[in-house]
Amino acid sequence: MRQADTLGVAPPADPFSAQVADTVARVIVNDWVNAEYKLIELDAPGVAADAAAGQFFNIECPATGEDKPFFRRPMSTYAADPSAGRVQFLYKVAGAGTRGLATLIPGQTTRILGPLGMGFSLPETAKSIVVLGRGVGLATLAPLAELAQQRGVAVTALISARASEQVLSVERFRAAGAEVETVLDSDGTSDLGNVEAILRHLHAQGRADGFYTCGSNRLMLLMQRLSAELGIFGEVAMEQQMACGLGMCYCCVRNFTIDGETVSKRVCWDGPVFPLAEATSW
Ligand SMILES: Cc1cc2nc3c(=O)[nH]c(=O)nc-3n(C[C@H](O)[C@H](O)[C@H](O)COP(=O)(O)OP(=O)(O)OC[C@H]3O[C@@H](n4cnc5c(N)ncnc54)[C@H](O)[C@@H]3O)c2cc1C
Ligand code: FES
Repeated sequence: MRQADTLGVAPPADPFSAQVADTVARVIVNDWVNAEYKLIELDAPGVAADAAAGQFFNIECPATGEDKPFFRRPMSTYAADPSAGRVQFLYKVAGAGTRGLATLIPGQTTRILGPLGMGFSLPETAKSIVVLGRGVGLATLAPLAELAQQRGVAVTALISARASEQVLSVERFRAAGAEVETVLDSDGTSDLGNVEAILRHLHAQGRADGFYTCGSNRLMLLMQRLSAELGIFGEVAMEQQMACGLGMCYCCVRNFTIDGETVSKRVCWDGPVFPLAEATSW
């Protein structure tokens, strides 16, 4: 069991008991949201839409032209609506797999395996959390803001991006009741010193009893240092290249530090969400 279970924290779905299915999902929309990212919404009946915040799917990406992606590609659930049987993914078109995914049009189908992995946990004592994300990390963190809203936990979303054109998900976080602050490389506000000052200020205001991050090594290291110094609960959602997504192939193993020891874990099976204190730099 995860360390979180010993801290009075409600554990996320246990992968041993969770239902996983390989679902044939039909594309509803697959549209660009900016020059680099697309949002795909899928009609996915069955267990797929039960995905918890921080869980992911291994998605079949079609071959197109020269691109022949053999393995599926892991994507965090951006939204899941069990009543409508729909799931959404917000993805960056990066290489062969996501280029193929980007070609899907409404009415076409693809297979999605999931929901997979261990999602986020919220301490029962949490009143106000900070989510700090960059790039695709925001896709992973957005459902956490909704989970927090359902539990009556206030959220500050700190969104880091190269420039305003790359800022994602602001409306999504606001719709979940989050206070949103944006920091940019283009005006220097994403500088680590400034982000640290913002986090310390939020803590001093009593608005940070949980730290959550995804999408940036340097931001993870900053939150990790502050959570240790200030005694704040924290989690990080890790990204790692994967093959099976099911814990069988060990291609996603990373090193973690637990009680001073280096421990290897499978990101797909033991995570992708891990205690912030255990994460090591990537
Ligand atoms: C649990 C999990 C959740 C993820 N959620 C999202 C998401 O919601 N939206 C999104 O856009 N991306 C997400 N990713 C990253 C996504 O899986 C990769 O961007 C994708 O697999 C790249 O495939 P590709 O064939 O397009 O690119 P490739 O040609 O395979 O690679 C392009 C570039 O991306 C890097 N890359 C490849 N795979 C990964 C990976 N798994 N993690 C990080 N970098 C990778 C490669 O090193 C290379 O630099 C997630 C990854 C994990 C492990
Ligand atoms: S991807 Fe196969 S064990 Fe994690």
